[in-house]
Amino acid sequence: MASNPSYHNANANANSPYGSGDPYYASSSGYITPMPMKKRTSNWLKFGVPVLIAVIIAAVLGGVLGSRAHNNKSSSSSSSAQGAAAGTAGGDAAASSAASVKNAVGVFPTATDSLYLLPLYPSTTNTAAYTTPTFHATSNAAIAWPADPFQPSNPSPTSVRPDRPRLIAPAYKWQALPQLIQSDPYLKQWNATIFGNATSYYPLPPVVYHMDGDSGILDNAREVKMRVKAFAYVYRMTNDTKWVDRTWQELQNAVSTNFGPNDDTKWNPSHFLDTAEFTAAFALAYDWLYPAWTDDQKSTIRANMIQYGLNQGLASYTNSDGQGHGWWASNIQGNWNCVCNSGLTMGALAILGDDTSGIAETILGHSVPNALPNCAQAVTSDGTWTETANYWYFGTTGHAEMSSSLMTATGDHYGLLTNNSNFQLTGYYHMYVSGFGSLFSYGDHGPNKFSTTANSMLLYGDFYQHPEFVLFQRDQHDAPEPNSMFWYNPTVSGAFWDGMLLDHNFDDPLTQWAAMRSSWTDESGLYVGIKAGALQHHQTHNDLDLGDFVLDALGTRWAGDLGSGDYLSFQYFNSDAQDAARWLYYRKRTEGQNSILVDQQNQLVTAAPTTKFDSSKTAQGSSTVFDVPSDSTAYWSADLTSGYNSTTSYKRAIRMINGRKQVLLQDDITTTGAIMWRMHTNATVTVDSSGQSATLQIDDKKLTMQILNPTSDMKITTGDAVRFANDPALPTGQTDQPNPGVTVVMISMDAGTKSLQVLFNPQWPGMSASDFKTPPAVPIDSWSLTSHN
Ligand SMILES: *[C@@H]1O[C@H](CO)[C@@H](O)[C@H](O)[C@H]1NC(C)=O
Ligand SMILES: *[C@@H]1O[C@H](CO)[C@@H](O)[C@H](O)[C@H]1NC(C)=O
Ligand SMILES: *[C@@H]1O[C@H](CO)[C@@H](O)[C@H](O)[C@H]1NC(C)=O
Ligand SMILES: *[C@@H]1O[C@H](CO)[C@@H](O)[C@H](O)[C@H]1NC(C)=O
Ligand SMILES: *[C@@H]1O[C@H](CO)[C@@H](O)[C@H](O)[C@H]1NC(C)=O
Ligand SMILES: *[C@@H]1O[C@H](CO)[C@@H](O)[C@H](O)[C@H]1NC(C)=O
Repeated sequence: MASNPSYHNANANANSPYGSGDPYYASSSGYITPMPMKKRTSNWLKFGVPVLIAVIIAAVLGGVLGSRAHNNKSSSSSSSAQGAAAGTAGGDAAASSAASVKNAVGVFPTATDSLYLLPLYPSTTNTAAYTTPTFHATSNAAIAWPADPFQPSNPSPTSVRPDRPRLIAPAYKWQALPQLIQSDPYLKQWNATIFGNATSYYPLPPVVYHMDGDSGILDNAREVKMRVKAFAYVYRMTNDTKWVDRTWQELQNAVSTNFGPNDDTKWNPSHFLDTAEFTAAFALAYDWLYPAWTDDQKSTIRANMIQYGLNQGLASYTNSDGQGHGWWASNIQGNWNCVCNSGLTMGALAILGDDTSGIAETILGHSVPNALPNCAQAVTSDGTWTETANYWYFGTTGHAEMSSSLMTATGDHYGLLTNNSNFQLTGYYHMYVSGFGSLFSYGDHGPNKFSTTANSMLLYGDFYQHPEFVLFQRDQHDAPEPNSMFWYNPTVSGAFWDGMLLDHNFDDPLTQWAAMRSSWTDESGLYVGIKAGALQHHQTHNDLDLGDFVLDALGTRWAGDLGSGDYLSFQYFNSDAQDAARWLYYRKRTEGQNSILVDQQNQLVTAAPTTKFDSSKTAQGSSTVFDVPSDSTAYWSADLTSGYNSTTSYKRAIRMINGRKQVLLQDDITTTGAIMWRMHTNATVTVDSSGQSATLQIDDKKLTMQILNPTSDMKITTGDAVRFANDPALPTGQTDQPNPGVTVVMISMDAGTKSLQVLFNPQWPGMSASDFKTPPAVPIDSWSLTSHN
């Protein structure tokens, strides 16, 4: 593929899909691609010569889970490790060994008392199980999916496989599943969880209609979809018709006279996501339960989907509704286009051949070509989602379900997965934007997720041959759901962190940001995310947040984002122009970010920042116990001058200090306006009498922050996360949401030329005051990897 020079590190890696200089993996234990790309992917993906690694599993696995206690985290049950497996090499044999290691290790337990349900990686120096991410070549049906018997030589979106299901989960996979479940601890756990979830939904009343203003009935649609998938899954695994009856009840409710208007707009096409997600839910129910429905039921479901879904979709594509409901189909490179095209595609594929009206063919003639220049381009050149880290979930779920449905139903994805050669990088985006405990959750967070997950990682990992995506996602709390049962490639083995670089710079001008961390597996480690990027063209989901950062350490978030405003607020999504109403709401204003203010004004939406980044290119090894070398560091800086009035120059920079145990944040600014540094925290903040340092406390954890080389006007103060009294007024009748428990740490300064250096020292267990470093004062322009040694 065409590689971006700024991705390159100095270490060449011949096996990397990026050629020399893999941006994500170090050469020492770098990326190995054991299998050729699947058919029908285009030439831009050039993979190295397939290499089969020898899996040496002679080591005793008894130590694998012999773990350092995870403090203050209770955990769900973990399987116990057993003895050694024989060392083997080759295809099926290596895969079998990998499978036995996988079974011996089991599924990592998940924290049950952390907000974020993090996987708890075992603490071990035993490297037998935690090797290079790999898919094993195997012909052993007990541990791998068989080949799809449907291999059309000339695929067409309107020419479907002869058997059902068509969508996501073809019959040959259902047939293989019971045996694979026995051999794979992840499939086993997910199957049990889906059964448990379906059982808990079963006695609930059908989803109750709730029209949530401008957000429509999207929660309703996604909850119905989530339930229907679980019911249909359990039916197919048991043949117990009670699940068919319960699905029917849910579908009937969603078209009943009690559910929305009794006309064609029942599924709320003015907020088309709702229509699309209902169509997807009905499509999956129709297709997965196909043999169980009576002809009458099938004809009813088809009629509902056409009236409330596909007909509305056609009006959107052709703009024939006269109301602009199809705005999402015109040049929208974000989640809306993915979700809407996906639902309509799934609906059309489900009824193709049964419906005689021709609407299914017509929809497919619109949806696939519409998604290519829109949905498929919602990933920028560095892999970042154009909207936010949370909207990645919605966009990729739509994109993955649409691609998977087309592939299973018709044998091709028609470029959805390959048209944008950077799409495969979005798996790395998701991994790096995941801090310890939470996303770097800048901008809007989106509605409830329900049927939306990060399991596109399983499909993308398999399709793009990035086993690390699969290994990362399979331990996450949202992994168990029906899609995962079919997208997961059980021949995967190894550990995603083995050789994975700790830092990455995402440098597309639209979405510039960077991530740095001390570990991939120690959930009490250090994580920093920081961003610049354009302030417009994010589907109006972003904030005025140049320089915004998050900081995680000691298992908690010390500097965080406030998230979405109220989506029902007046003109919340109308515009991202400088004078837009959106920028009146505190959570969207610059003062609501962890950024610098000049004269208490919003940043300028026309800003065009430039960034700089360097890293020691430290990679974690196989072990989950990772000791950071003392010279390991990374820094990122951004020229943010163009974001501010009255400002001659302004750069913000952040770096890891002292072997990634401390963080330095520096602002070098020359301005004629009054300067204010702001950071939002859930901590209790105690400022010392000098006003130049403060102690932040969350539970029994502490972090100190200190202004280095302060001028006399630099004083730390604290306040509530509320708008300034002299801010422009909110639109009539509107209010900001409260931010309970959040304190703003502020440092106000006079106008002039300033260098504000704030050092963050998490109070790590066992680290004494003298172990902390006080770095020298270095202008940002002179920062280098060694400038703060
Ligand atoms: C799936 O999970 C259910 C519920 O735990 C269990 O009864 C069933 O045997 C599992 N299926 C397989 C193939 O193991
Ligand atoms: C599904 O079941 C799991 C395991 O009991 C539970 O943690 C999860 O919250 C359930 N999901 C839903 C959506 O109910
Ligand atoms: C369900 O029925 C199908 C079709 O008769 C059959 O192939 C399958 O084995 C049955 N599954 C179970 C779990 O009984
Ligand atoms: C992407 O799709 C467009 C049509 O939308 C097509 O013209 C173009 O050739 C495709 N590019 C690649 C690289 O597949
Ligand atoms: C406060 O904690 C909540 C929940 O853990 C988190 O979502 C939020 O980002 C935190 N806020 C800040 C300002 O750190
Ligand atoms: C920036 O300065 C221009 C020119 O003085 C002024 O019109 C504009 O309102 C200012 N914008 C902001 C956000 O301060």
